[in-house]
Amino acid sequence: ASAPTTVTITGGGGQIGYALMFRIAAGDMLGPDRPVRLRLLEIPQGMKAAEGAALELQDCAFPQLVDVDVTDDPLTAFNGTHIAMLVGARPRTAGMERADLLAANAGIFGPQGKAIAAVADDDVRVVVVGNPANTNALIAAASAAPHVPADRFTALTRLDHNRAVGQLAEVLQVAPDDIDDVTIWGNHSASQFPDVSHATVRTGLVERMPVVEALAERLGGAAQVRTWLDDTFIPRVAKRGAEIIEVRGSSSVASAANAAIDHVRDEQLGTPHRSWTSAAVVSRGEYGVPAGLVSSFPVRSHGDGYEIVEGLDIDARARARIDASVAELIAERDAVTALGVL
Ligand code: NAI
Repeated sequence: ASAPTTVTITGGGGQIGYALMFRIAAGDMLGPDRPVRLRLLEIPQGMKAAEGAALELQDCAFPQLVDVDVTDDPLTAFNGTHIAMLVGARPRTAGMERADLLAANAGIFGPQGKAIAAVADDDVRVVVVGNPANTNALIAAASAAPHVPADRFTALTRLDHNRAVGQLAEVLQVAPDDIDDVTIWGNHSASQFPDVSHATVRTGLVERMPVVEALAERLGGAAQVRTWLDDTFIPRVAKRGAEIIEVRGSSSVASAANAAIDHVRDEQLGTPHRSWTSAAVVSRGEYGVPAGLVSSFPVRSHGDGYEIVEGLDIDARARARIDASVAELIAERDAVTALGVL
């Protein structure tokens, strides 16, 4: 067997942490051949919950799980870590202004970025799940610079991507796996742009057709497709988190953990066949997104980190939606800069 991979989960006493750790320990994220060492980071109030989860992990007797540490010290949690999943964050509470939320999270993700730079493995990969995820990733990356290259930091938009695929599969009455090349652009927020203009659907053994054409057949024409995309699909994907809270009475947890696992698995093992997925990564100016912002793009991996799929045509409607979400990311960055964090 290979040497163990160390995976650090922050917020290990929280809901997503609980939904993540058993699947990681069972091999769902890194495959059946890689032994895993788990480190759970919590704040003092969350330690008991994380310690209890660690007891349950022991009771699963997972063959791949080498050991579990629970700590409230970031330098211990990130020591030698290969994969850091930053889930714990400060939630927005009633009456909290956006600037306060950004500041509170800067106080978490700044020090965690510094700790990662100080003690993590040289090849560490970081995914930020805790909201506001894109800007938290920006803060962590800036705090880890120059020791850790910024492209090691990503933020999770795979849940939005998977939600978009799920909606298309339902309408087209196909399996989710039949749909390729959906893209989430921009911020993990209601301003995101779920884009189907390059997506295809399997129609035969090797044949595929553009999703927009398949939608036109099903919905009765191109005009109906536009209306459905603008009035139903895009808002439903962008506001799915609120829908889950309304129906389930509690936030998305298992689906968020599942998306985080998909994100890391594809980054570490490669994206399947020739299609792409979505992740928020540090822009170098691709598609007109200002360099340095952590924005969602179409991405591929060959097993060594995400790279942006370049050269896609962006029409005027798409351009306007991408620009609107990027404007929100710029505003978040500027607010954090004004706080003196960046
Ligand atoms: P939760 O409240 O159940 O758990 C969060 C845990 O983080 C708590 O146990 C808390 O003690 C811990 N924590 C807080 N500050 C910490 C710190 N400085 N270091 C270590 N641990 C810390 O929340 P849940 O449901 O697990 O969600 C976690 C985050 O994920 C939230 O910010 C949520 O908005 C976000 N989220 C992001 C999604 C995405 O697609 N990017 C999807 C769903 C949720």
